[in-house]
Amino acid sequence: MSRETILSILRENPERYCSGEEISRVLGVSRAAVSKAVAGLRREGYVISSVTNRGYRLEAEPDRLTEEGIRAHLRGGVLGGDLRVFGTIDSTNNYLKRAALEGAPDGTVAVADEQTAGRGRLGRSFQSPPGIGVYLSFLLRPDILPERAVNLTACTAVAMCDALERAIGIRPQIKWTNDVLLNRRKVCGILTEMSVEGETGALQYIVIGIGVNCNQRLEDFPEDIRDIAGSVAMATGARCDRSRLTAEIINAMNEMYADWLRGKWDVNRYRADCATLGREVRVIRASGERSAVAEAVDDDFGLVVRYEDGTRETIFSGEVSVRGLEGYV
Ligand code: BTN
Repeated sequence: MSRETILSILRENPERYCSGEEISRVLGVSRAAVSKAVAGLRREGYVISSVTNRGYRLEAEPDRLTEEGIRAHLRGGVLGGDLRVFGTIDSTNNYLKRAALEGAPDGTVAVADEQTAGRGRLGRSFQSPPGIGVYLSFLLRPDILPERAVNLTACTAVAMCDALERAIGIRPQIKWTNDVLLNRRKVCGILTEMSVEGETGALQYIVIGIGVNCNQRLEDFPEDIRDIAGSVAMATGARCDRSRLTAEIINAMNEMYADWLRGKWDVNRYRADCATLGREVRVIRASGERSAVAEAVDDDFGLVVRYEDGTRETIFSGEVSVRGLEGYV
């Protein structure tokens, strides 16, 4: 309790030193107790400077993802009403799939500081080291036919552009279909999974997982992805506040989900953010590669490409991959 009160006194006075005597008076404890509490806060990672005859000043807070820190920036809505924050977990997607079977409600959000078995698309693993990323998943239980849910990943990519723009002031771009880029480097990946009842074909639940590289330096990424991976901090040159970003993601997802449920989500929003449009690309299949120009995104988020011989094709994610010729776009 006294640690929390000391913290709030120091936070309220960022510019000046607060004397031990002043703090002990407010708390009604001895100066020795104040000094002990400050030592405890330092052990928790708070950087508190002390100057003889002047007192204490808070220089930096530990970069920790906490429920309190996230809630401080939340604006409310269905998503995040039930917010579950973990230090370490296998995978927030796996956690919510388990929670869904136990009856967790629509809008449950799971956030982790670290994942030990983070998963990416196409069965790949997703590196999720502690302290430098944001890993979170949303459990949705809309009353819809499963086929209506297929565009949710693309809508989530736009919500991520909104969230990042609010948190850092730079609007990212989307590499078709759903990689979120800053400075042509992938900073965020999205993995959507759903469960459909075999007998009836009814949708049971959807889990949307989002992983953001926040404070990695280039050398923190494994060599095989160093030419395409990036972090928010690499793009801005400043440390990314992970709690604030997490809250902005939940805020943006709330808005997206509400519009999407009302059938009001406009695919033009995706087109405006899609960096692949208008570019020369390589369309890559197991059978080979072809050069093309990415001409349009249709209403189902298919990419319309024109090949060198003038023929056109609409391609869907999963069946092919598309690489830009100028960097990862
Ligand atoms: C991709 O780009 O391949 C998608 C990566 C998705 C990673 C996120 S991190 C939170 C959630 N939990 C997981 O195990 N995966 C997703």
